Amino acid sequence: MNMGRSSKHWIWPIVGLAAAVFFLLAWPGGDAAAHANLSRAEPAPNSELPESPERIVLWFSEGIEPDLADIRVLNARGEGVDNDDVSAQGDPVESVFVSLPTLENGTYTVSWANVSTVDGHRVRGSFLFSVGEPISGEVDLPSQPAISNPQEPYLRWLVLLGGLSVTGGLLLELAVWRPALRGIGGGLPAVTLSRRVGWLYLGGMVVLGLSSVGQLLSQSGSTFEVSWIGAIGDPLRDTLETDWGRSWLWRSGFFVILSAALMIRFMRRSAKADGNEGDDPGGTDIVACTALVASLLLLAPITLVSHAGTTPELEFPAQLSDYLHLVGAAMWAGGLFHLALAVIPALRGVEAADRRAFLASAVPRFSVLAIIGAAALVASGVFSAWAQVTTIPSLGVPYGVTLIVKTAVIVPLLVLAVVNHRWIRRRLARSDDAGRWLTRTVAGEAAIAVLVLLLAGFMTSMEPARQVAAREGRGLPDGFADDTISENVVIDIGVEPAKTGRNHVRVSLADRRGAPITDATDVRVRLSFLEQDLGELPVPLENAGEGIWVLDDAVIALVGVWQIEADITRLTGFDSRAAFRFEVLAGAGSNSDAIRPDRDRGRVLLGAEIALVGVVLLAVGVPLGGWYERRGISFMVPGTAAGVVGAGLIVWVQYFAPVDIAQQTNPFVPDEKSIAIGQAAYASVCSACHGEGGIGDGPAAGSLYPPPASLPVHVPLHTQGELFEIIRVGVVGTAMDPVSEDLSDDETWHLINYIRTLEDPDLR
Ligand code: HEC
Repeated sequence: MNMGRSSKHWIWPIVGLAAAVFFLLAWPGGDAAAHANLSRAEPAPNSELPESPERIVLWFSEGIEPDLADIRVLNARGEGVDNDDVSAQGDPVESVFVSLPTLENGTYTVSWANVSTVDGHRVRGSFLFSVGEPISGEVDLPSQPAISNPQEPYLRWLVLLGGLSVTGGLLLELAVWRPALRGIGGGLPAVTLSRRVGWLYLGGMVVLGLSSVGQLLSQSGSTFEVSWIGAIGDPLRDTLETDWGRSWLWRSGFFVILSAALMIRFMRRSAKADGNEGDDPGGTDIVACTALVASLLLLAPITLVSHAGTTPELEFPAQLSDYLHLVGAAMWAGGLFHLALAVIPALRGVEAADRRAFLASAVPRFSVLAIIGAAALVASGVFSAWAQVTTIPSLGVPYGVTLIVKTAVIVPLLVLAVVNHRWIRRRLARSDDAGRWLTRTVAGEAAIAVLVLLLAGFMTSMEPARQVAAREGRGLPDGFADDTISENVVIDIGVEPAKTGRNHVRVSLADRRGAPITDATDVRVRLSFLEQDLGELPVPLENAGEGIWVLDDAVIALVGVWQIEADITRLTGFDSRAAFRFEVLAGAGSNSDAIRPDRDRGRVLLGAEIALVGVVLLAVGVPLGGWYERRGISFMVPGTAAGVVGAGLIVWVQYFAPVDIAQQTNPFVPDEKSIAIGQAAYASVCSACHGEGGIGDGPAAGSLYPPPASLPVHVPLHTQGELFEIIRVGVVGTAMDPVSEDLSDDETWHLINYIRTLEDPDLR
């Protein structure tokens, strides 16, 4: 018997190959960073400028389509005032600018729109700035409907239905019903079955093809704001030149290969049927395997234009998860469609004993497929849910609600699957009743799967929950307040509303019993953006009496983690300081990435996800013979590989992942303690050259050329990451030697906190 060479052995190498190709496909997409939201602007949002700026420059958090980016600058009456010459910079394009004539005094609105190269979604936003006078009035949040394009969910649904049913059908054919037929031999309607399955493939391809064309028209229409008919022509051509269009073309290419392979099979089979040879279930079917590979590859471009591609710093893990999700769905849902619509109906009229024998062999095989698919679905679904929702309050937005509904609908699906697996499957060989129940549960499962895919179509058409929640400020605090004690002064700092735009800073000083401390002569705060060094300088506060100092117009332009440092100079000479970190959220009129998944946590979750799939493969492989039989081995090998890769990824993230030094942020808040440690380190290692006050007048300085730099001047020119590197690596060709041996990482960070407090005595 030639059973060992059943077509099942082809499947895992094929899946591996498809995954490898997917990796290659997915990498170039890796430079995109986030949904194309505004990350920085010049002038900054809410800034009040003394003079008219020459131009407006906007930076976006990910690559955008240069031709589709738009900036308009409107005056208070809503009239456009810019020179209408929007142009773009960078490759991929991440910044755009528009030049301005000399503006009159007044408040202006910058309104912008772009189309992300990653997911093809259109994003709009706006912010204010003023010239020569304070900002008056605020813009409303740009209202974005939950679903920007009403056809999109249904088209996505149809694409999923078509694509998954063909992929799942091929998997089912190669791994389940052909091997099952082969194991039983005659008496079963192989020809009827092939024909029914053939029709189903045709149906799947037609649905997939038409809905893909529909997606192209709808995408062109919504991008260029024309009707579907109006989209034919230039808009369509321009859309095909976007990244979205390119991945659509990739998908179409695989579609053509898949169609050709299915065609060849269809013609071969009808030739055989005419010759009355019957269908030959034996042998490995190269054409079917080609079709399977093409269909698995076809799922990849669908992933590339999903939200996964816009997950900040985690686009690759998110895309891989999405792809796993689709493959899992194909194994389970796609397989169910073919079971319900082709395999089971083809058994009608077949003799009871034959039918029982067939089902008893086919259903356990399908169980294997479905269990692996379900594991992939659950593991990758957890990842995606975390990456796109991220915080519990984000569940309240439409995306989150749809996710909850989708999860709720999956529960009965799982129940039916377990009933099939635990109860019906065992009885198939003996009881016809079990066969009838199987028909019902399979039909029920397939129907639920259709509904789940519809919900998936809706979800993937909506902006991810975390982004909407961030814009609405859901679950995020309103304002920041904290206190600390330094040199016996209770320093209480408040920042309101801690959102982009103008903020109110309040520093109140009291002694331990709560009595105001009024002998401070100077209070300064420095607000610094931790994710990017912007070189902010300390700003003096106004004394409002009773130990309270205020700053009314601290403009914070960027969303993210900020640090506030307060320096208090007192008559007594006991100067004190306080430093805190807080999260700045998007204020009215700006888009935001305020809520974003943590990169390392994402990588660990991805590792866990891959390892879980590995464990399930092993669990399936052991009863099939483990390492001792070919069938078992074909699960053990990928299972072990996935386990090793997953566990390896987790270990790598925890211990070995490289960090980009210049991008590093100081892990320590520059509070009194940190600065004291830094000062001690400075005194012992640096002051000999740089001098006690840092201006380069240390005892060893005289003989040095170039002379030691003045730290109050040079330190603000570098990011904290760069300072870390300078201290660790030194400055080549100068006396500034590396000090790696003398200082630990932590000490170096404290030292940086200290040298950032040094001030030029001339400027004081
Ligand atoms: C042996 C003398 C010496 C010692 C010790 C020394 N430096 Fe320097 N440092 C220099 C010289 C000389 C330069 C000027 C290099 C140049 O002109 O590029 C410099 C430059 C710098 C700069 C400015 C680099 C730039 O390109 O802007 C920083 C920051 C700095 N040192 C920090 C430190 C710190 C912190 C320490 C203590 C850990 C330290 N240095 C110890 C001699 C020294």
